[in-house]
Amino acid sequence: MNVRNRVALFAAFGIVAIVGSQLLAEPKVEKPTPKAEAFKPVLTVEQTMEGQGSLIKRIKGGILDEEWDDASKAALVLAELSNTNQYHNDAKDYKDWAKALSKDSLELAKALHKRDGEDAKRLMQKAAQNCKSCHEVYKK
Ligand code: HEC
Repeated sequence: MNVRNRVALFAAFGIVAIVGSQLLAEPKVEKPTPKAEAFKPVLTVEQTMEGQGSLIKRIKGGILDEEWDDASKAALVLAELSNTNQYHNDAKDYKDWAKALSKDSLELAKALHKRDGEDAKRLMQKAAQNCKSCHEVYKK
């Protein structure tokens, strides 16, 4: 085989190798860009508030009857319910009160879990202040 043919053969192998490797390579899959899904509460504001009202009653009763675990669980649910409440209104003050109530409820749940009645009462008042502030502006 002369030099030209060798070079041609070499080049041909090279091309086969490159094309082959591309055929064997994993197909390039476009990764879907994750879309941030807007959170949509399944409850209306009225249902949310009726829920918050009944949870507050359960917490108060729990403190009086020293049913700490039940009161603590109710406070946790209130924390999440209030967390969802922020999506019922775009106004910053509304969201801030809803988030503050959520945060206070989490602290309240901890105090109840520790059976710390005094701290629970203090946190209960702190939490209730958010109810009052938001209602003054937004409750018709
Ligand atoms: C961030 C705002 C906000 C916070 C915080 C808030 N509420 Fe409300 N609440 C509202 C609004 C708005 C309404 C009026 C709803 C309507 O009828 O349109 C309302 C109404 C209510 C009602 C009347 C429900 C009905 O049937 O109309 C109750 C009961 C209630 N809230 C309980 C609570 C309790 C208890 C807390 C605190 C633990 C609380 N809310 C905290 C916004 C809030």
